[in-house]
Amino acid sequence: MLTQEENDLITRIGPGTPAGAVLRMYWHPISLARDIDDEHPTKFVRILGEDLVIFKDKSGRMGLLADHCSHRGASLVYGRVEERGISCAYHGWLYDCEGNILETPPERNDAIMKSVKQTAYPVQVYLGMVWAYMGPLPAPPMVHYDTLFRKDGTRVWLIHPKLNANWFQAMENSMDPAHLQILHQEFIGRGRKPPSTTRGFTDDVESYEFFVTDYGALMKKRTYVNGMVDEHPVLFPNILRQGASSQFRVPIDDTHTMHMRMFFYPTEDGSEPEDAFDPEITFEDPIKEDPEKSHPETRFILHSVNSQDQMAWETQGPISNRSAEHLSYSDRGVVLLRRHMKEQIERVARGEDPLGYQRDPDHPMIDTNIDEGVRQLRQDRANLTRRA
Ligand code: FES
Ligand SMILES: [Fe+2]
Repeated sequence: MLTQEENDLITRIGPGTPAGAVLRMYWHPISLARDIDDEHPTKFVRILGEDLVIFKDKSGRMGLLADHCSHRGASLVYGRVEERGISCAYHGWLYDCEGNILETPPERNDAIMKSVKQTAYPVQVYLGMVWAYMGPLPAPPMVHYDTLFRKDGTRVWLIHPKLNANWFQAMENSMDPAHLQILHQEFIGRGRKPPSTTRGFTDDVESYEFFVTDYGALMKKRTYVNGMVDEHPVLFPNILRQGASSQFRVPIDDTHTMHMRMFFYPTEDGSEPEDAFDPEITFEDPIKEDPEKSHPETRFILHSVNSQDQMAWETQGPISNRSAEHLSYSDRGVVLLRRHMKEQIERVARGEDPLGYQRDPDHPMIDTNIDEGVRQLRQDRANLTRRA
């Protein structure tokens, strides 16, 4: 159980919030890159509670600026892109990708051009996504996780429906191994029926453990009665690594979250395919009868593991009321995650680097053990084929 203040501290991520400061220390995928092209050179996005516009100028540079123009607030979504940046549609103030004001029609106001800057954040296009960094400059390098940087495999993005809930509910779920055997019992039995729907396949599991890895991830580990082990690291702060996939939970604001999953499939012979960094982009089918609404005005369609998870996260409420919860022994991974979040908040407030943060642009690739995840996946598929 948390007090309301503690709950606010770890969940609220808008500008000026302590948890928002932690999330702003990392690069996040914020949009499909293909959404911004010559025909549609601007796109509105809300990220970490900030209203922003992605744009591509006529020199091919991409920028991310605050939506409201510094002059009198019209949206830059309707700006005209030019060689040197984007010009507000209302009175023509011209901004470059760094937020500098280059022109202030109808007059030239040097005082304003020197003293005012439009909020601007660095962006880069990588793996078919626009990534943004919204923290203090200089921007760090993107963390070299194997799933993002290995050359010997192919990648697929799966874009899940928007989550109408706070990002931290999804992250707590990632440190909650007990729910797998119960919530997802219809999908994990491999043809077996659980002894009871209350316990699902709980009795398949011998033990759960949690620890911090040497590269700064929070690990949840299940050891099964049959000796099998699975380990799923949470790459701090908002990525779950599991099997062949990495699930990104990017806060739109305090009560909405983007949920995107990238699969990385290593080649069996170690070869490096040409399209390794050009993932196919796929979308999950709707998971609610009315996809725009939230519980209880709509009903979830529980046709997949993800839809079951999103049901659990959303029905906890827009921001789960942790002052009313009753944690049990099996929730100790959730407690660990909250403690780490609080510690990172304190570290960032002291000016220190949070967990998993990298400063060296040439830091070595981080091995999140994807080969084991893929090996298990292939073995599962082979077993299923043998049974069919
Ligand atoms: S509101 Fe943008 S230039 Fe006036
Ligand atoms: Fe789950």
